[in-house]
Amino acid sequence: MPHTGVRAATEGDMPAVRGVAKRFGLLSGWNPGSPDFLDAERAFGTLLLAPGDEDGPAAGFGGTLRRGDLTHLGDLFVLPAHQSAGVGRALLSRLLRDDGPKVTFASSDPRAMSLYVRHGLRPWCPLLYLTGPPAGLPAPPVRITTAEDTAALDADVSGGTRAETLTWYAALPGVTAHTTDAGYAFTRTTTDGTLIGPAGGITPQDCATAVLGALAATAPPHLAKLAVPGTHPLVPLLLGTGWHIADLDTFMADDVALALIRPDRYVPHPDLG
Ligand SMILES: CC(C)(COP(=O)(O)OP(=O)(O)OC[C@H]1O[C@@H](n2cnc3c(N)ncnc32)[C@H](O)[C@@H]1OP(=O)(O)O)[C@@H](O)C(=O)NCCC(=O)NCCS
Repeated sequence: MPHTGVRAATEGDMPAVRGVAKRFGLLSGWNPGSPDFLDAERAFGTLLLAPGDEDGPAAGFGGTLRRGDLTHLGDLFVLPAHQSAGVGRALLSRLLRDDGPKVTFASSDPRAMSLYVRHGLRPWCPLLYLTGPPAGLPAPPVRITTAEDTAALDADVSGGTRAETLTWYAALPGVTAHTTDAGYAFTRTTTDGTLIGPAGGITPQDCATAVLGALAATAPPHLAKLAVPGTHPLVPLLLGTGWHIADLDTFMADDVALALIRPDRYVPHPDLG
């Protein structure tokens, strides 16, 4: 039976959506009560709810963010009791119904990859979630900049413009935008550590330099983390200095997005793309 109740999430639906997100551990890097990536999906993309039943208000949810014409599928999550019953397919067919390039980070769940391939996306390269200490890495100089200043280079490496999303992110507590002019990197420092991304550069080395400079400038006493495409020059550098692979997704894109995104000079934000 196809799931027919899928609808845009309202403000009143947010506790139900966050209940599902929490069940999958998606809110760990975000402060309760403060804006999070689900608010960004509602504001700058699409956030859909699949209503639940007498056991709970939500069966699942899905969300996208826009970068110009490009759609970044950020979330597709269905609670275990409702899985394999068409809920994910119903959410996805609404989230990806527009023409235009599409990209996502697919989990290892075979149902996810199967659904995404049938929407025109192809497995492209691994996306590695790396974590490690900033100490012992090169520390090139960077200076603090504005989100607006990063927007053009971000659009070039990420495949589309998202100035509003970057400005929204830069205004959150602990977020700083850094630049070397040839590269940029956002950092967010919380009690959990420092998250890098999005970041990019004119060349792969420019991107790596901006990330390393931002890491050094943030100088966290604790762990840093970032999501980096497998083809990026930071991968051998960081793994060679003792960083760990905490998790792995698959970077997927359709043919048009494949020609737009530069995975060797782009470090996406894990939740914002
Ligand atoms: C992945 C997920 C969102 C899919 O939602 P769902 O409601 O369970 O999936 P659906 O029932 O709508 O569709 C699953 C499809 O995968 C197919 N499928 C199942 N196992 C498969 C396999 N091993 N290989 C290929 N296809 C498979 C099913 O046949 C079905 O396709 P069909 O409807 O055309 O028959 C959901 O299972 C989930 O939340 N998983 C855990 C969280 C997760 O990893 N989310 C993905 C983040 S990228």
